[in-house]
Amino acid sequence: MKDVVIRRAEISDIPAIVEIEECSFKVPWPDFLFKANLSNPGFLVYENGSILGYAIIGTSEDRTRSHLQSIAVHKDCRRQGVATKLLNWCIDLAKLYGFDRMTLEVREKNVDAQLFYSENGFKVEGRIDGYYVDDNAILMGRDI
Ligand SMILES: CC(C)(COP(=O)(O)OP(=O)(O)OC[C@H]1O[C@@H](n2cnc3c(N)ncnc32)[C@H](O)[C@@H]1OP(=O)(O)O)[C@@H](O)C(=O)NCCC(=O)NCCS
Repeated sequence: MKDVVIRRAEISDIPAIVEIEECSFKVPWPDFLFKANLSNPGFLVYENGSILGYAIIGTSEDRTRSHLQSIAVHKDCRRQGVATKLLNWCIDLAKLYGFDRMTLEVREKNVDAQLFYSENGFKVEGRIDGYYVDDNAILMGRDI
Protein backbone atom coordinates (compact mmCIF):
# COMPACT_ATOMS: atom_id res chain seq x y z
CA MET A 1 0.00 0.00 0.00
CA LYS A 2 1.32 3.44 -0.99
CA ASP A 3 1.53 6.40 1.40
CA VAL A 4 -1.21 8.99 1.44
CA VAL A 5 -0.04 12.35 0.12
CA ILE A 6 -1.95 15.63 0.05
CA ARG A 7 -0.18 18.10 -2.22
CA ARG A 8 -0.65 20.86 -4.78
CA ALA A 9 -2.23 19.74 -8.04
CA GLU A 10 0.04 19.41 -11.07
CA ILE A 11 -0.69 19.35 -14.80
CA SER A 12 -0.25 15.55 -14.94
CA ASP A 13 -3.09 15.16 -12.35
CA ILE A 14 -5.70 16.84 -14.56
CA PRO A 15 -7.04 13.69 -16.34
CA ALA A 16 -7.64 11.94 -12.98
CA ILE A 17 -9.24 15.09 -11.54
CA VAL A 18 -11.55 15.38 -14.56
CA GLU A 19 -12.54 11.72 -14.12
CA ILE A 20 -13.47 12.41 -10.46
CA GLU A 21 -15.33 15.54 -11.53
CA GLU A 22 -17.34 13.67 -14.16
CA CYS A 23 -18.45 10.97 -11.71
CA SER A 24 -19.35 13.63 -9.11
CA PHE A 25 -21.32 16.42 -10.77
CA LYS A 26 -24.15 16.70 -13.30
CA VAL A 27 -22.45 19.79 -14.73
CA PRO A 28 -18.73 18.98 -14.39
CA TRP A 29 -16.00 21.59 -14.76
CA PRO A 30 -14.12 21.11 -18.06
CA ASP A 31 -10.37 20.48 -17.89
CA PHE A 32 -9.43 24.05 -18.89
CA LEU A 33 -10.96 25.39 -15.66
CA PHE A 34 -8.78 23.02 -13.64
CA LYS A 35 -5.75 23.97 -15.74
CA ALA A 36 -6.50 27.65 -15.04
CA ASN A 37 -6.38 26.84 -11.31
CA LEU A 38 -2.90 25.28 -11.38
CA SER A 39 -1.34 28.59 -10.32
CA ASN A 40 -3.58 28.61 -7.21
CA PRO A 41 -1.74 27.23 -4.14
CA GLY A 42 -5.16 26.22 -2.79
CA PHE A 43 -5.71 23.58 -5.51
CA LEU A 44 -4.95 20.30 -3.70
CA VAL A 45 -5.12 16.60 -4.51
CA TYR A 46 -5.31 13.55 -2.28
CA GLU A 47 -3.14 10.75 -3.64
CA ASN A 48 -2.89 7.17 -2.47
CA GLY A 49 -1.32 5.32 -5.40
CA SER A 50 -3.71 7.29 -7.63
CA ILE A 51 -5.60 10.56 -7.28
CA LEU A 52 -8.70 9.88 -5.13
CA GLY A 53 -9.94 13.42 -4.54
CA TYR A 54 -9.32 17.11 -5.01
CA ALA A 55 -10.23 20.41 -3.34
CA ILE A 56 -9.88 24.05 -4.35
CA ILE A 57 -9.93 27.02 -2.02
CA GLY A 58 -9.73 30.69 -2.87
CA THR A 59 -10.81 33.91 -1.20
CA SER A 60 -14.19 35.60 -1.00
CA GLU A 61 -14.72 38.59 -3.31
CA ASP A 62 -14.09 41.05 -0.45
CA ARG A 63 -10.99 39.01 0.51
CA THR A 64 -12.08 38.73 4.15
CA ARG A 65 -12.77 34.97 4.10
CA SER A 66 -11.37 31.81 2.62
CA HIS A 67 -13.81 30.21 0.22
CA LEU A 68 -14.13 26.51 -0.56
CA GLN A 69 -14.73 26.49 -4.31
CA SER A 70 -14.98 22.75 -4.86
CA ILE A 71 -14.27 19.38 -3.29
CA ALA A 72 -14.91 15.91 -4.70
CA VAL A 73 -13.86 12.32 -4.06
CA HIS A 74 -13.92 9.45 -6.55
CA LYS A 75 -17.23 7.61 -6.19
CA ASP A 76 -15.46 4.32 -5.35
CA CYS A 77 -13.55 5.88 -2.43
CA ARG A 78 -16.24 7.77 -0.53
CA ARG A 79 -17.04 7.40 3.20
CA GLN A 80 -13.39 6.64 3.98
CA GLY A 81 -12.47 10.05 5.35
CA VAL A 82 -10.78 11.31 2.16
CA ALA A 83 -12.78 14.56 1.91
CA THR A 84 -12.42 15.23 5.65
CA LYS A 85 -8.63 15.00 5.35
CA LEU A 86 -8.62 17.25 2.27
CA LEU A 87 -10.89 19.77 4.00
CA ASN A 88 -8.69 19.83 7.12
CA TRP A 89 -5.69 20.47 4.88
CA CYS A 90 -7.58 23.33 3.20
CA ILE A 91 -8.44 24.79 6.60
CA ASP A 92 -4.81 24.63 7.76
CA LEU A 93 -3.70 26.31 4.53
CA ALA A 94 -6.33 29.07 4.87
CA LYS A 95 -5.19 29.69 8.47
CA LEU A 96 -1.61 29.92 7.24
CA TYR A 97 -2.76 32.71 4.90
CA GLY A 98 -4.30 34.51 7.89
CA PHE A 99 -7.99 33.68 7.45
CA ASP A 100 -10.24 32.86 10.40
CA ARG A 101 -13.44 32.00 8.44
CA MET A 102 -14.29 29.62 5.62
CA THR A 103 -17.48 29.83 3.57
CA LEU A 104 -18.96 27.89 0.66
CA GLU A 105 -22.04 27.49 -1.52
CA VAL A 106 -23.67 24.10 -2.00
CA ARG A 107 -26.61 23.09 -4.14
CA GLU A 108 -29.84 22.89 -2.14
CA LYS A 109 -30.49 19.47 -3.70
CA ASN A 110 -27.04 18.17 -2.68
CA VAL A 111 -28.10 16.95 0.75
CA ASP A 112 -25.17 14.50 1.01
CA ALA A 113 -22.63 17.32 0.71
CA GLN A 114 -24.58 19.45 3.20
CA LEU A 115 -24.40 16.55 5.69
CA PHE A 116 -20.66 16.26 5.04
CA TYR A 117 -20.18 19.99 5.70
CA SER A 118 -22.40 19.93 8.84
CA GLU A 119 -20.36 17.00 10.14
CA ASN A 120 -17.29 19.18 9.63
CA GLY A 121 -18.59 22.14 11.61
CA PHE A 122 -20.21 24.28 8.88
CA LYS A 123 -23.52 25.97 9.68
CA VAL A 124 -26.19 27.18 7.24
CA GLU A 125 -25.90 30.97 6.91
CA GLY A 126 -28.26 31.74 4.05
CA ARG A 127 -29.69 30.78 0.70
CA ILE A 128 -29.48 32.31 -2.78
CA ASP A 129 -32.43 31.48 -5.01
CA GLY A 130 -31.49 30.69 -8.62
CA TYR A 131 -27.74 30.74 -7.91
CA TYR A 132 -27.26 27.70 -10.14
CA VAL A 133 -29.04 27.26 -13.48
CA ASP A 134 -31.05 24.37 -12.02
CA ASP A 135 -30.91 24.90 -8.26
CA ASN A 136 -30.67 27.30 -5.33
CA ALA A 137 -27.51 27.65 -3.25
CA ILE A 138 -27.24 27.09 0.48
CA LEU A 139 -24.53 29.27 2.03
CA MET A 140 -22.53 27.63 4.79
CA GLY A 141 -19.66 28.85 6.91
CA ARG A 142 -17.52 28.20 9.98
CA ASP A 143 -14.73 29.74 11.98
CA ILE A 144 -11.38 28.09 11.37
C1 LIG B 1 -19.37 15.18 -0.37
C2 LIG B 1 -18.11 14.32 -0.58
C3 LIG B 1 -16.97 15.26 -0.99
C4 LIG B 1 -17.75 13.63 0.75
O1 LIG B 1 -16.54 12.88 0.54
P1 LIG B 1 -16.14 11.62 1.46
O2 LIG B 1 -14.69 11.37 1.28
O3 LIG B 1 -17.06 10.49 1.18
O4 LIG B 1 -16.44 12.19 2.93
P2 LIG B 1 -15.89 11.61 4.33
O5 LIG B 1 -15.64 10.13 4.19
O6 LIG B 1 -14.74 12.44 4.78
O7 LIG B 1 -17.18 11.85 5.25
C5 LIG B 1 -17.08 12.40 6.56
C6 LIG B 1 -18.46 12.41 7.18
O8 LIG B 1 -19.34 13.29 6.44
C7 LIG B 1 -20.68 12.72 6.41
N1 LIG B 1 -21.00 12.29 5.05
C8 LIG B 1 -20.17 12.18 3.99
N2 LIG B 1 -20.84 11.77 2.90
C9 LIG B 1 -22.12 11.56 3.28
C10 LIG B 1 -23.28 11.11 2.60
N3 LIG B 1 -23.26 10.75 1.31
N4 LIG B 1 -24.44 11.00 3.32
C11 LIG B 1 -24.48 11.35 4.62
N5 LIG B 1 -23.39 11.80 5.33
C12 LIG B 1 -22.24 11.90 4.66
C13 LIG B 1 -20.63 11.49 7.32
O9 LIG B 1 -20.90 11.93 8.64
C14 LIG B 1 -19.17 11.05 7.17
O10 LIG B 1 -18.72 10.27 8.27
P3 LIG B 1 -19.03 8.67 8.28
O11 LIG B 1 -18.66 8.12 6.93
O12 LIG B 1 -18.15 8.18 9.40
O13 LIG B 1 -20.50 8.55 8.59
C15 LIG B 1 -18.34 13.21 -1.66
O14 LIG B 1 -19.55 12.54 -1.38
C16 LIG B 1 -18.39 13.72 -3.08
O15 LIG B 1 -17.37 13.81 -3.76
N6 LIG B 1 -19.61 14.06 -3.58
C17 LIG B 1 -19.77 14.54 -4.95
C18 LIG B 1 -19.17 15.92 -5.11
C19 LIG B 1 -19.83 16.92 -4.19
O16 LIG B 1 -21.04 16.94 -3.99
N7 LIG B 1 -18.99 17.85 -3.64
C20 LIG B 1 -19.45 18.93 -2.81
C21 LIG B 1 -19.89 20.04 -3.69
S1 LIG B 1 -20.43 21.46 -2.80
